Amino acid sequence: MAVLVTGGAGYIGSHTVVELQNAGYDVVVLDNLSNASEKALDRVSKITGKPVKFYKADILDRDALNDIFDKETIESCIHFAGLKAVGESVVKPWEYYENNIAGTLTLVDVMRKHNVKNIIFSSSATVYGDPAQIPITEECPKGQCTNPYGWTKSMLEQVLTDIQKADPEWNVMLLRYFNPIGAHKSGTIGENPNGIPNNLMPYITQVAVGKLKELGVFGNDYDTPDGTGVRDYIHVVDLAKGHVKALKKIEENPGLAIYNLGTGKGYSVLDIVKNFEAATGVKIPYVIKPRRAGDIATCYCDASKAEKELGWKAENGIREMCEDSWRWQSNNPQGYEE
Ligand code: NAD
Ligand code: UFG
Repeated sequence: MAVLVTGGAGYIGSHTVVELQNAGYDVVVLDNLSNASEKALDRVSKITGKPVKFYKADILDRDALNDIFDKETIESCIHFAGLKAVGESVVKPWEYYENNIAGTLTLVDVMRKHNVKNIIFSSSATVYGDPAQIPITEECPKGQCTNPYGWTKSMLEQVLTDIQKADPEWNVMLLRYFNPIGAHKSGTIGENPNGIPNNLMPYITQVAVGKLKELGVFGNDYDTPDGTGVRDYIHVVDLAKGHVKALKKIEENPGLAIYNLGTGKGYSVLDIVKNFEAATGVKIPYVIKPRRAGDIATCYCDASKAEKELGWKAENGIREMCEDSWRWQSNNPQGYEE
């Protein structure tokens, strides 16, 4: 019996494949490589000492999916595949709805036709919109998303919830990630954004490695201790381990379950800059810029539900997150390109 990992060549997916293989699971990866390199999987295999079974396929391609489900004995699916660039989603909404929503509908249809009814879905803190309460618990109402990417997550949560309600044989785990950063300790796999990074940590590491001149800090007039945005950064390896725990939980037939995966601690943009400098000894020049459209002041979670019900808790602190992000970037200044 294997776990199908869609988007398994990507940033969070590749780290999760490591943890799944280390925990003894048989893993089958599906990825269309639209935002990933197959080299990531070679490196996963070097880390774990196990081969990674890989299908280059698209979740929109029903025939390819049928083929994989016919050939492999899939028991559950961890579904990472999707487009995730917030700004791009505003410019290309149709592409985001098509890829993320139509892709997931196709995947889920092929799953049920093969009687595979266990899915772990990559959701996001973005579904809370401007959160009604801080720290954010899972009971916090969902909010207005500020971009099509966020809406795809929010809508897909609803789609999967309704499917589970109509057919209780399904186990649907909605994992709401906060801000994943960091990389595997080996420094051989990590986040590899195309073009200029949108997210804070890859931007910082590219400044540190000399690819970018300085960090732009988007706003210093928020209602936060230093005026810059506060987020719940979580080490990607901790996040990956959360998926292994979620997979274990499926054995108890939980039906529908929703978990925040974060640390419960908030750090501002300037906290991250300072911690990165302290952990690496590399100075990060920055300038204050206007606020970025759609950003909120503060977002961090109450992570106690995952601890209580999954037995999962983030173990790495901000220092490890900075050190490990830097090890990956400094060892691989061009990402997976040689
Ligand atoms: P990523 O882009 O590195 O990984 C996504 C993977 O999916 C890529 O390897 C890409 O090639 C693949 N993919 C995209 N469309 C596909 C399709 N139609 N068919 C097959 N493969 C396809 O992103 P990530 O950071 O690893 O994110 C993984 C998941 O977690 C995504 O669903 C993302 O929306 C979600 N998420 C990410 C964050 C974050 O900050 N990184 C936060 C919350 C949620
Ligand atoms: N920031 C800067 N400069 C930059 C990039 C970011 O100051 O160059 C600031 C942002 O304004 C924000 C903080 O750093 O205050 C974090 O920004 P990111 O873009 O790294 O992350 P976001 O919280 O905006 O969003 C991320 C993912 C979303 C996901 C969300 C919640 O991009 O997909 O986390 O998990 F939904």
